[in-house]
Amino acid sequence: MRQWVQRNAPVDHNPFPPTADNLKAGRREFGEHCAVCHGVDGSAHTRLGANFYPPVTRLERGAPGWSDGELFFIISNGIRYTGMPGFGARHKPETIWRIILWIRQLPHLTAQEKADLENEGSTGLMKHEAAASTRTATKRCRERAAFPMAPRRAPPRPQSTVGSSSDLTPPTSRPQRPC
Ligand code: HEC
Repeated sequence: MRQWVQRNAPVDHNPFPPTADNLKAGRREFGEHCAVCHGVDGSAHTRLGANFYPPVTRLERGAPGWSDGELFFIISNGIRYTGMPGFGARHKPETIWRIILWIRQLPHLTAQEKADLENEGSTGLMKHEAAASTRTATKRCRERAAFPMAPRRAPPRPQSTVGSSSDLTPPTSRPQRPC
């Protein structure tokens, strides 16, 4: 894996300087996309509590041993046959570079900063979960609207009519209940 990365990684250094804004953006993106597996502080302690094999790399030492360009390559492409997904197809290069700035910052976090991240992390997750459950409720509501009679369905029709297209047409006078 190291050889594959070294052969293919761009040699570039991170084009983004570690300004407060860039770090903030990187921290947010890391929290959204990476913390679920790597932990908010890179320690691989997560609420998910999942065991990956090979295990999730601990990033709290800032991924020493990799250059910026190599990290860029790893994060863009993922690591084959492991749980590490590639992010390059759906994320702009600047997002990945900012995440790398944040990874480099992880070794310098104080205990207080880590505790704050934990708290933010769980609030963030709760917001995420709340949004997800709203989505499910909306979906259920739509399903009910599409099949208002579903719970009181008539007994199955005789074999001969199954497949005739009129059976599949939804009722025309459908009550339009707002969700
Ligand atoms: C679904 C879980 C998961 C997510 C999400 C995830 N990773 Fe990983 N990551 C892993 C696993 C598992 C490994 C270990 C792979 C291995 O052993 O080669 C890993 C390895 C890595 C490595 C290699 C470190 C090394 O020294 O070998 C880096 C860097 C990394 N991840 C960064 C990230 C970043 C940045 C993100 C977010 C953009 C991210 N990961 C999101 C699971 C994940």
